[in-house]
Amino acid sequence: MHNQKFPPKADFVQKAWINETQYKELYAESMKDPEHFWAGQADRLTWMKKWTKVKDTSFHKPVSIKWFTGGKLNVSYNCIDRHLGHHADKVALIFEPDSPNHQTQKITYRQLHTEVCKMANVLKKLGAKKGDIVTIYMPMIPEAAYAMLACARIGAIHSVVFGGFSPDSIADRVNDGKSKLVITADAGYRGGKVVPLKDNIDKAMAKTPSVEKVLVFNYSQEKHDMTANRDVYYHEAVKGISDQCEPEEMDSEDPLFILYTSGSTGKPKGVLHTTGGYLLWASITHQYVFDCHENDIYWCTADVGWVTGHSYVVYGPLANAATSLIFEGTPTYPDASRFWQVVDKHQVSLFYSSPTAIRSLMREGNDFVKKSSRKSLRVLGTVGEPINPEAWHWYNDVVGEGRCPIVDTWWQTETGGHMITPIPGAIATKPGSATLPFFGVKPILLTNEGQEITGAGEGVLAIADSWPGQMRTVYGDHKRFEETYFSTYAGYYFTGDGCRRDEDGYYWITGRVDDVINVSGHRLGTAEIESALVANNKVAEAAVVGYPHDIKGQGIYAFVTLKTGVQSSDELKKELIQTVRQEIGPIASPDLIQWAPGLPKTRSGKIMRRILRKIAENAPEQLGDTSTLSDPSVVQDLVDKRLNR
Ligand code: WT7
Repeated sequence: MHNQKFPPKADFVQKAWINETQYKELYAESMKDPEHFWAGQADRLTWMKKWTKVKDTSFHKPVSIKWFTGGKLNVSYNCIDRHLGHHADKVALIFEPDSPNHQTQKITYRQLHTEVCKMANVLKKLGAKKGDIVTIYMPMIPEAAYAMLACARIGAIHSVVFGGFSPDSIADRVNDGKSKLVITADAGYRGGKVVPLKDNIDKAMAKTPSVEKVLVFNYSQEKHDMTANRDVYYHEAVKGISDQCEPEEMDSEDPLFILYTSGSTGKPKGVLHTTGGYLLWASITHQYVFDCHENDIYWCTADVGWVTGHSYVVYGPLANAATSLIFEGTPTYPDASRFWQVVDKHQVSLFYSSPTAIRSLMREGNDFVKKSSRKSLRVLGTVGEPINPEAWHWYNDVVGEGRCPIVDTWWQTETGGHMITPIPGAIATKPGSATLPFFGVKPILLTNEGQEITGAGEGVLAIADSWPGQMRTVYGDHKRFEETYFSTYAGYYFTGDGCRRDEDGYYWITGRVDDVINVSGHRLGTAEIESALVANNKVAEAAVVGYPHDIKGQGIYAFVTLKTGVQSSDELKKELIQTVRQEIGPIASPDLIQWAPGLPKTRSGKIMRRILRKIAENAPEQLGDTSTLSDPSVVQDLVDKRLNR
């Protein structure tokens, strides 16, 4: 049953951008002559000056990735101005607030132009200029997109920090880029609760010497403080400002944004994306993977604080003159029918969400879905983690009533956009498989020793050659970029994921093979959570692993050793969770904390995570050989008192 195939339906294929034959031809072309292929595709953007070389990339040290060398363009021009001829009155953004009782907004491309130009002029007035890093900490409201586009317009590099991150996490990100300007709002709303954005910024600013100005949107009217000489209200700064702002001419390889993401070691790293290749990738994948046409209403439920929000709420759809819906809320507020109410209200045709959201709605039962029409839906997408076949079938049968192709898109913050994904009119789907590579993507499976696996088999997933949307470096640390992605398997981009290829050449992502865990589609490093735990002075040592979780995909299991003399208690567990929320944010809160008198270690002192993982997975029979541990007796105690049974 798991190899069941769902071929595209004839009526869908007829109107689709890409059918099976076209996919095969275009993919083959993209492999045979990437330069020629991408030179042709680059016409979908408007360039101020044409490039001199299409592809100039090396995965060998020194790793260097350049696309469309010498080309000049502006991302905000491509996402707005060039649509003003035919699409000035087309709706660019639909805003659906957290509460269904609050006002929906529709913003046309003409209005978007006005708002972005004004905001760009405000940023200039506050001293921002080309090359500066601007931190954005906003609710999911249209102003978040305006802020990103305004940065792009003046050539400033935005660094969006997800609204769920704590003041300490904000401070780390601001300090890494020595950002001088922060854009925020008084507060936002999620699931009926107030998110105190400005309060969090105020706490973060105690640790960020570089920040000179904080630009504040008065969105919520919630109580908040303003600091003299630093904080500026947008509605005051914008008074008398021009609604025209010339887009800055940017080099194809000038940075567009930095976005921090967790790795297996150290602090989150600043993934840097540039201008030409990134926009081309976001645009082409958005058009073909969602089969987006002129009259589609497109809705991606991700927050702009994640890469999905960058590429598939803002840049991809707007580059394509599509209508993109921005949703401030959650799937289950006021109740579990909210998504489908919004679909009906705005006649959404292309819907993109996460396995976690689907699983949490599946749990609430079919009635919440069935009381909506959903007739407008045409394509359903998922991203962020492997989708289990049960959830896939529910999405397909109950939400899509068997009418809508499911696109299970595999990609990463680092890849800029979709990499392995169905194209809905071209590729038959299989529940749980991300299917086949997008144009220009050359996946390769390797053994742990770096031997290539051909045909069907399972190994680690690497990519053999560059694609335009690839990240260019880790901000401020090119060495870390080379070490993280190009050293494990020399000459390949290493994804960190395990993967199986079946007899049809389909790819099945099996999950991370490194110390990264994926909680509700959000990436967290175990090392990060451990260092947050030991920040509490009662903790001597901590080891964190992931375990299978029905809704979140993976849950966080922490083994904690307390300092001598400290009493364990449920109170202390709560305190530790509080510590993690403070250091990172609520998404990193451990689901389970087990007191560990000792941790299993090798004789050289390395924590044996393999063993802890098996204990957390409730599979003590699979512990394997523990005889090489420095103190094998600690394992039995951990097994006896394990929490996930
Ligand atoms: C990791 C990347 C891409 C935007 C959201 C997450 C996992 C992502 C899938 C999928 C199986 C997936 C991988 C990947 N992942 N999409 N369709 N099937 N796994 O971006 O935070 O950079 O995380 O998410 O493990 O490496 P991210």
